[in-house]
Order: sequence, then C-alpha cells, then structure tokens
Amino acid sequence: MAKTFQKSLSEEAVKDVIGSYTRSFDEQDEAARKAKSSSLTNDYYDLVTDFYEYGWGQSFHFAPRHRGESVRESIVRHEHRLALRLGLTPGMKVLDVGCGVGGPMRNIARISGAHVNGITINQYQVDRGTRHNEKERLTDLCTLTQGDFTKMPFEAGSFDAAYTIEACCHAADRRAPFGEVFRVLKPGAYFAGYEWCLTDGYDAANEHHRRVKLGVERGDGLPDLVHTSEIDRSLKDVGFELLEARDLVGESHPETPWYESLRSGVSLQGFRNSRAGAFVTHQLVRVLETFKLSPRGTVDTHQMLRGAQQALVESAKLGIFTPMYFFLARKP
Ligand SMILES: C[S@@+](CC[C@H](N)C(=O)[O-])C[C@H]1O[C@@H](n2cnc3c(N)ncnc32)[C@H](O)[C@@H]1O
Repeated sequence: MAKTFQKSLSEEAVKDVIGSYTRSFDEQDEAARKAKSSSLTNDYYDLVTDFYEYGWGQSFHFAPRHRGESVRESIVRHEHRLALRLGLTPGMKVLDVGCGVGGPMRNIARISGAHVNGITINQYQVDRGTRHNEKERLTDLCTLTQGDFTKMPFEAGSFDAAYTIEACCHAADRRAPFGEVFRVLKPGAYFAGYEWCLTDGYDAANEHHRRVKLGVERGDGLPDLVHTSEIDRSLKDVGFELLEARDLVGESHPETPWYESLRSGVSLQGFRNSRAGAFVTHQLVRVLETFKLSPRGTVDTHQMLRGAQQALVESAKLGIFTPMYFFLARKP
C-alpha cells in the first residue's frame, strides 16, 4: 500500500496541492471556489484517486441497495440501469462525462457492446483507467480522454448517447457541462445521469445544515451544492427535453441506505470505508508518512476524506442531500 497512495505526485507537489486546496476552503469564499472549480477538481483528484481506488474500487459512486444485494452488485446495477435507459446497443458511440478511472465505462461497455469514451480533468485518472482497460482487454471499446467537460475537445454532433455519474457537481454552473453534452450529441440522442444535490429537506437558514453542506463540499472538492430543481432547470436551459427526473434514495432497502458502506464494515471494501476502517487506514497512513514511505500530505488527505465521510452520513441522516438524483433527457 505504501507505493499505492499518490505515486503520481512528488512530495513537494503533494504539499503544494494540499496547501492550495485547503486554503481555498479556509477562505470559505464560494465565489472564489467557483471561479477556480476546474483546477480545484484536478488538485482534488491528484490527491484522492488512489484513496478512492483503495476504498471503493474502480467505480467512484454510490448506489441504492436492495435487500440481500452486496455493495458491489448495487454499484454495477446502478451503472447497468444507465445502459438500459439510454438504450445502448453494440456499435453506438457513448460519452462518459467525468469518468474517473473508468469502472462504470468498462461495465457499461461490457453489458451493451457500445464504444465508450470518457472525459476526466485529471491526467492521473486517464493513465490509471487506460491501464485498467488494457488489463481487462477492453481497449477496442473503452477510451479515456483528458479534458475539461465545460470545454470538451470533441466535434459537435459526434456521440449517440451520453451519461454522467456523480461528476457534474464539480462544475460551478451545471449549464456549462450540460451545454457541452448538448453540443456533442447527435439530434435525438439521450443523456442520463446521477447528480449530487440538496433536497427539499435543506434549510439554508439552519446553521447546522449549512455546516454539513460545507463539510460535504470541502471533503469532496465541490464549489457549491445546488438543489435538485437546479438540475432540471439547467438541462432545459441548454436545450434538452427533460423526460424524467427523480431522487433514487428511496429505492434502497431501509436496512441498507446508500451511505451504509460509509458507516459500517460488512465487506473488506465496506470496512475500508467504514468509521473503523477509516481509523485503521488513518493510523496506517500516519506510519507510512512518518517513515517517508508515502509523501507528506497523505495523512492530511486521508483526514480530509474522513471529514467528507462524516459530513455525507450526517447529510443523509438529516435528509438534506442525495447523491443519486436521476435524470433522463433528450436532445430534440
Ligand atoms: C466522483 S468522480 C466520479 C467518477 C466516475 N463517474 C465514477 O462514477 O467512477 C468525479 C469525476 O468527475 C471528473 N471531473 C470533475 N470536474 C471535471 C471537469 N471540469 N472536466 C472533466 N472531468 C471532471 C473528475 O475528474 C472525476 O473523474
């Protein structure tokens, strides 16, 4: 594990990145964070990509979970739902908006036979994802491209469908990535996704709610969380026809809410994400950093992620947040 964390960064780079990232939140200046959301996101994923892969595997998202379903099964089912709702078939050209290291892309390509091109702002994720594609012999169906989803390096009308999973919350204004998706899709093509949002339960006048919101933003590298209605509005503003939009949080069995894996430790993967697992990992990264087996800043990074975890669980308990606001839209 010593070699796993942040091997893409030199010790100095980790220090710089942590410094600028933490300062941007300490200033608590939402406008400043919004103005530099792309570089903030890139810094954030330089820091956390290895931790995410260690804790979550290759798919960096949540999912509603049925009774008797493992976390892994629920994650893959959540991805397959997008393939189904988009009507993906072999030969289609599909865009994954904010693709991480490509876990969803590989599962979606396998089930549908479609070609998936993912875009991520982070070069380290492109390198990791490309290596996974090679290992899993999926290079003929899956590709990762480094780029900003608010200025995509793709031709207009070049994709048959697009999806996004828990990624556009990194944009200061959702209309920027949604507008770009609209541009690169062919007329009649579908766009579906899962969005991180505030729900009707959020009360901006409630100080505790505001603190928890900032905790989620700070721990997850986000400029500003918005209400679900902002997703609907933004999709329509850029020209999409909105066919369906609803929060999937209620689909989970009450005993296995989406945040269950953050607070308990049922599997090894679950344990790594749980409070106990986070404690053990934290002690481990402290030792690694002390003995210079991992770069300086690793402990701070892990601490930041533990804060995110606590804020997410609290937001879920308060009912003020969802990581799975589903939408299906169509370019006329
Ligand atoms: C939480 S991860 C989700 C990754 C992937 N969808 C998954 O479920 O495994 C968010 C992703 O959005 C990407 N992202 C955020 N802002 C971006 C931007 N401006 N341009 C391109 N990608 C961006 C990040 O690099 C990261 O890959």
